[in-house]
Amino acid sequence: MTAQQPLRGDVAVLVPAAGLGSRLGPGTPKALREIAGAPLLVHAVRRVCRADGVACVVVAAPAGRAQEVRALVEPEVPPDVTLLVVDGGPTRGESVYAALSAAPAEYPVVLVHDAARAFAPPDLVERVAAAVRSGHDAVIPVLAVVDTVKEVDADGRVVRTLDRTALRAVQTPQGFRREVLLAAHRAAGVANGVTDDAGLVEHLGVAVFCVPGAEAALKITRPSDLALAHLHLDADGGRTLSS
Ligand code: CTP
Ligand code: MG
Repeated sequence: MTAQQPLRGDVAVLVPAAGLGSRLGPGTPKALREIAGAPLLVHAVRRVCRADGVACVVVAAPAGRAQEVRALVEPEVPPDVTLLVVDGGPTRGESVYAALSAAPAEYPVVLVHDAARAFAPPDLVERVAAAVRSGHDAVIPVLAVVDTVKEVDADGRVVRTLDRTALRAVQTPQGFRREVLLAAHRAAGVANGVTDDAGLVEHLGVAVFCVPGAEAALKITRPSDLALAHLHLDADGGRTLSS
């Protein structure tokens, strides 16, 4: 074994982290709330940086907190990974676009990964990147849906029961060829209400490819999700850069 640095790759990861976390209850912005001694954003970046292909991380920070965010995240980022921190916007879409605009053009694969999915494992990050590299314009990690899902009208009446076998729950990181993601955001404009980037790409008529997701990549949204997240933290030992 040589003491060489691991070979870094072709992937920039955009991390929208500017949301308030209102469904989690009052407090500091969600990405900065702590679990097991570290903010959710730190857990997320720590895992992203363990994927070999990742060469650049761009964080969209809560308004006015970019400097503080940089200080928190910097120790988690290996020296051969470029770290950029930008101000996020009032919507997730605007935060992603701010990060995308700041990402250097030299990375042909761009992943978008919610800070709220703090425990997404490095092998999931690599799986999404590999699918883009292999020729897919847009890639999403998915899980089977466990609940029966019904379409309901405004009066609370069931319109139809959807075929669960054809449904998937969608996670992040989502991966794109850089040009495709840029085109999708530019076509959508800032006022789009879409909650995931693949949705913007679908509007362009570009095919989106699915890869298996990971239970650990759950989105921390409500207080009970914090308890669930702890299980995954315990499972991977919550290792840091130095461990
Ligand atoms: N996000 C962002 N900028 C916004 C809104 C959301 O960067 N203006 C980010 C969040 O920080 C999060 C991800 O988008 O990492 C997914 O959003 P969500 O889970 O809805 O987080 P919040 O918007 O923070 O939560 P809530 O909707 O409960 O306020
Ligand atoms: Mg939100």
